[in-house]
Amino acid sequence: MDRVRLFPMELPRAVNISGNNNVRGRLSFVKRLALCCIVLAGLGLLYVPAYHSAREPIELGDTASIGSSGITRYVESFEQLEGWSFNTSRNLHSYISSNNNTTILSPDELCASSPYLVIIICSAIGNHNSRNAIRNTWGSDEYLNKFNLTVKIAFLLGQNDNDTLNNAVVDENDEYGDIIQATFHDTYNNLTLKSVMMLKWVTKYCSHATYLMKTDDDMYINVDNLLLSLSSRTSNNGVLLGSLICNAHPISDPKNKWYTPKYMFSEKTYPNYLSGTGYVMSLDVADKLYKSALSTPLLHLEDVYITGLCAKKSNIRPINHPGFSYVQRKFDTCVLRNTITNHRVNSSMMYAIWNKIRDTKISCPKLDDKKKQVLNRQRRNIGYYMSNRRTITNRCA
Ligand SMILES: *[C@@H]1O[C@H](CO)[C@@H](O)[C@H](O)[C@H]1NC(C)=O
Ligand SMILES: *[C@@H]1O[C@H](CO)[C@@H](O)[C@H](O)[C@H]1NC(C)=O
Ligand SMILES: *[C@@H]1O[C@H](CO)[C@@H](O)[C@H](O)[C@H]1NC(C)=O
Ligand SMILES: *[C@@H]1O[C@H](CO)[C@@H](O)[C@H](O)[C@H]1NC(C)=O
Ligand SMILES: *[C@@H]1O[C@H](CO)[C@@H](O)[C@H](O)[C@H]1NC(C)=O
Ligand SMILES: *[C@@H]1O[C@H](CO)[C@@H](O)[C@H](O)[C@H]1NC(C)=O
Ligand SMILES: *[C@@H]1O[C@H](CO)[C@@H](O)[C@H](O)[C@H]1NC(C)=O
Repeated sequence: MDRVRLFPMELPRAVNISGNNNVRGRLSFVKRLALCCIVLAGLGLLYVPAYHSAREPIELGDTASIGSSGITRYVESFEQLEGWSFNTSRNLHSYISSNNNTTILSPDELCASSPYLVIIICSAIGNHNSRNAIRNTWGSDEYLNKFNLTVKIAFLLGQNDNDTLNNAVVDENDEYGDIIQATFHDTYNNLTLKSVMMLKWVTKYCSHATYLMKTDDDMYINVDNLLLSLSSRTSNNGVLLGSLICNAHPISDPKNKWYTPKYMFSEKTYPNYLSGTGYVMSLDVADKLYKSALSTPLLHLEDVYITGLCAKKSNIRPINHPGFSYVQRKFDTCVLRNTITNHRVNSSMMYAIWNKIRDTKISCPKLDDKKKQVLNRQRRNIGYYMSNRRTITNRCA
């Protein structure tokens, strides 16, 4: 989810920097400015995220409308969240009752061969082109069958009001047989339902798989690197890894896509969590997270909910892996060959990256692990970001 581009503590930092540049005579002004900032912080301004995107050449998209003034962005958080008003039940049992049949389409045989890795790609009903791009590139049988370890993919969708679209999904599934359609209304604020549906489906039908990966249909996954990384682990248990985000704050601006009213989450910071653009867990963790979700009040931000709140409740610590990133990568063969996840990939870029990685005319220097991390941190290749910027370690806090 793009929300992870927001880093809350940047505001005071920016003030410090401009203070350093001032001549001595303006010190009192700086002091007053600092005092002013402390007062504003006391008023809750620190809840307001700043956008570190300014330092990264990625487009702001629909968050660009947020102005530069912190004050206009500070809006008290009483506005109700669309679809999750104050009195809407957030008990997952009301939506995903364990014993009820909550799937419309289900490729029950997907895991008949006890795959090593199951990749569930969360997709919206209308994104037929993105699904086909994945089916023809990193999700193709041609590619996945070359591995010694069995890898399976499936797309997870919800339901739409428009039956023309629902019927098209049935036709698409007749052709490819790789769609899970669950019984919930597929909207942005319902993505947590989607991810919990994923946990329910996988723990029911793929309980003998070793790993589960959750990703989205705008992601390019380098399965070679993912398998290398997973199969080199000493233990296949208790694993939860991805791009770790630390000390993120809830956004109190109701106009923001990631607005979180106080009644949904009242603490100042989210627990550390993994970006929803791609995270991997072992099946024992999937099982624990599913059970924990059934007794954890829903938060509409699926990554914070699953890999933060539910993981914390189950005593599972999310771990950062530099191969994962929510930042758009540089379109460069050697970068792409050394990463695991690539975000903001539309269907035409999916094919372009596929061809770029497989370009046999280009050979890349062999990198040791440390160099790989450095490569990942270069502009646009940032593999991960931590708010404390103590970067080379593999975790934060
Ligand atoms: C919940 O709140 C909405 C408006 O916010 C209201 O229309 C609805 O009747 C309420 N439902 C219940 C069960 O209180
Ligand atoms: C689940 O099943 C129970 C009992 O069969 C039923 O009362 C409940 O409404 C069902 N829930 C959903 C979401 O279908
Ligand atoms: C669940 O419901 C769907 C459609 O309502 C049906 O196709 C499917 O067979 C059901 N699954 C089970 C296990 O009953
Ligand atoms: C797959 O297994 C075969 C036989 O065990 C081995 O020769 C080959 O190198 C393996 N390939 C990879 C990519 O590990
Ligand atoms: C349903 O979707 C189809 C295809 O996108 C569109 O042509 C049609 O107008 C939609 N129908 C309704 C009722 O929105
Ligand atoms: C989320 O899904 C539930 C269950 O299908 C549905 O009642 C609700 O309207 C959906 N919420 C939104 C915001 O679409
Ligand atoms: C796909 O993404 C690329 C680069 O991110 C962009 O140049 C191109 O316009 C996009 N294509 C479409 C159809 O959106």
